[in-house]
Amino acid sequence: MKELDATQRAAAEQFGKQSANYGRTHILAKTADIEAAIGDLDLPAGSPVLDVATGGGHTALYHAKRGWDVTLGDIAAPMIENAAKLLAEEGFSCQTALFPAEDFPFEAESFALVSSRVAPHHFSSPEKFVREAARVLKPGGYLMVIDGSVPDEATPEQAAWINQIEKWRDPSHARLLSRTEWETLATAAGLTVLQSRLDAFKQPDLEWYFTAANTSPENRQKVLASLDAATPEDKALIQLGNEDGKIVWWWQRVTLLAQKA
Ligand SMILES: C[S@@+](CC[C@H](N)C(=O)[O-])C[C@H]1O[C@@H](n2cnc3c(N)ncnc32)[C@H](O)[C@@H]1O
Repeated sequence: MKELDATQRAAAEQFGKQSANYGRTHILAKTADIEAAIGDLDLPAGSPVLDVATGGGHTALYHAKRGWDVTLGDIAAPMIENAAKLLAEEGFSCQTALFPAEDFPFEAESFALVSSRVAPHHFSSPEKFVREAARVLKPGGYLMVIDGSVPDEATPEQAAWINQIEKWRDPSHARLLSRTEWETLATAAGLTVLQSRLDAFKQPDLEWYFTAANTSPENRQKVLASLDAATPEDKALIQLGNEDGKIVWWWQRVTLLAQKA
């Protein structure tokens, strides 16, 4: 791999340490969001597909079950190893590659689908990622992005606050893009937007959220204090609530499906 920038290094380090937390029992193993995005895609078995920032491999496994020929890539080697193991345990083979989402080691027009799920908020340049995806897609190929986002109605200050909470939880967080920003990036890369949606997604609870990223005690306190001090408008924006003594809230998830001409 070429030399990584600071954001890429932070992600490689964070996920290199946390790979064991992204196995079969992780909420990302539930793939209803992927099914909703590409369940009716007409790609034949054997189509070459690329899953970028594959993490525990749950999206890659979905692709393999569709009969597609999956290449999975990530910036953290332990993540790729775990993901490839998951596919092997399910009886699927795959290709793997270690690379940053901003710079793919693939020829132009190689893939029928490029996907990235719940990862682009770590990328140092979502713009370069979308350009790379557009470059490696075959004519007629698809880009699927599913990621955390901010509500359409959030003010810039509220978006900054949500991002700050994410950054305290996991210092390798870069930025949650709005739905409009994803549409703009896809269009600028020459893709046609077929689907662009925001869905409210309930976080399991605050403790789970900290455990998944191994948040430091100091940063847990910062998140708690910030939620406590939030204005009623900010609390309403994320539907902050308390269920059986557990703090819960709703994050937005963006789904973008775009196609190359
Ligand atoms: C939450 S996991 C992804 C989950 C996975 N896509 C799924 O559907 O199960 C986030 C992954 O993004 C990877 N990542 C973060 N920044 C990256 C970058 N710039 N390039 C490639 N991978 C990156 C991390 O190493 C980690 O494995």
